[in-house]
Amino acid sequence: MHTEPKSPQEPARPATSGLGRRALFATGAALAAAVGAAAEPVANHARPQGRGTGSGASPAAIRFHGLRQAGVTGPQLPATQMLSFDLPPRSVAADRETLRNVLAALTGTLSGAAAGTLPDPRLHTGETTRLACVVGVGPALASRLALNVPAELADLPAFPDDRLDAARGNGDLLLQLCAADRWTLTVVAELAATAAQSAGAVPRWTQSGFLPHTAPGVTPRNLFGFKDGTANPDDTAAGRWVWGPPGAHEHGTILVYRRIHMDVAGFAAIPEDRQNKMIGRRIGDGVPLTGTAEHDDPDIYAKHADGAYIIPVTAHVRLSSPRLDGGARMLRRSYNYDDGPDDRGLLFCAFMRDPALFTRVQNRLATRDALIPFIEHRASAVAYVLPGINPGGTLGEQLWR
Ligand code: HEM
Repeated sequence: MHTEPKSPQEPARPATSGLGRRALFATGAALAAAVGAAAEPVANHARPQGRGTGSGASPAAIRFHGLRQAGVTGPQLPATQMLSFDLPPRSVAADRETLRNVLAALTGTLSGAAAGTLPDPRLHTGETTRLACVVGVGPALASRLALNVPAELADLPAFPDDRLDAARGNGDLLLQLCAADRWTLTVVAELAATAAQSAGAVPRWTQSGFLPHTAPGVTPRNLFGFKDGTANPDDTAAGRWVWGPPGAHEHGTILVYRRIHMDVAGFAAIPEDRQNKMIGRRIGDGVPLTGTAEHDDPDIYAKHADGAYIIPVTAHVRLSSPRLDGGARMLRRSYNYDDGPDDRGLLFCAFMRDPALFTRVQNRLATRDALIPFIEHRASAVAYVLPGINPGGTLGEQLWR
């Protein structure tokens, strides 16, 4: 069975807002923080968490506040913008102060944007804003500033055939904005970047991505044409494998991001039957080769009468199967990217308690996956996704010890 983890959410407060756009821009991040801290959405109840990226018949705003960040728990919205920032090193004390200021600025801007209370007229479309965010800190910053982060937070090792571009990966702060449309993303990304920069962060890289609009319950597809995100953990499994253990990090998780180039034309030229065997599922309906419905668990031990595995030994879902990892699961919420005809692919985004799981899976995939000739990992990042906050709080409250 497939569901995404739900996040207990706080009840809504009435809206309070009213600063002019010029004032917001003039005073920068600190004022943006104040706006967001004071502003609350009117209609911001959590949405049902099933698959499907379309906005549906009656879209509601997505609540920014809650135990966990909505960019992980909410519906997967069809457009994303990732932004990475560095904090130029000065002294540990000064950099901790900068980080506090950047997180306060981002909290203000993002909560205001999600609530639809920012004064920027470009966000006043007459439609409900649908925005969900993920804010995280990278392992290098966490260790440099001795932040209170999960012990598991660490950079990934190098994998066979990695072709990583450092300028498109890593970073001290990672921000993932997800929205119902490209317009909202562009405007909010600009406001968030301005807020972060005003508080001392330096932009490192950005990356945009997208999904097809799909009806509720319908899994979106990647550019190879396969449904992507079918086998994800239910609430119970997510509590064990995605979110932190009880304590300071219980409502945090770790994001592994990989920018994976895909040879879309080359893969499309392969006969469908072979494509299905490479993945271990049928391209049309996403059903595992061993099952009859999309959400059937792929049975990697099932064999044909002649003794051969039904899901071949190099099939992607065999090598990534949780059965090879003691049942450990990651929550995949990937996006497609299109940076021109020669560079299209997948923004692999997976949330997990311990990125060592990614390392184990990727070590199997990088050596045996049938997809190897058609993909290339070109950028990578890891970030501790901070727990959510209550109204009036600031992201990152758990970091300071
Ligand atoms: C461009 C690269 C990739 C493509 C096109 C791709 C595609 C797919 C597809 C079509 C599925 C089956 C449907 C589903 O359950 O979502 C799948 C499953 C999965 N993939 Fe990938 N994937 C890619 C990279 C990765 C990477 C880098 C990892 C982790 C290292 C990974 C881990 C998984 C996992 C854990 C599953 C679910 C296995 C299961 O529980 O049955 N994938 N992927």
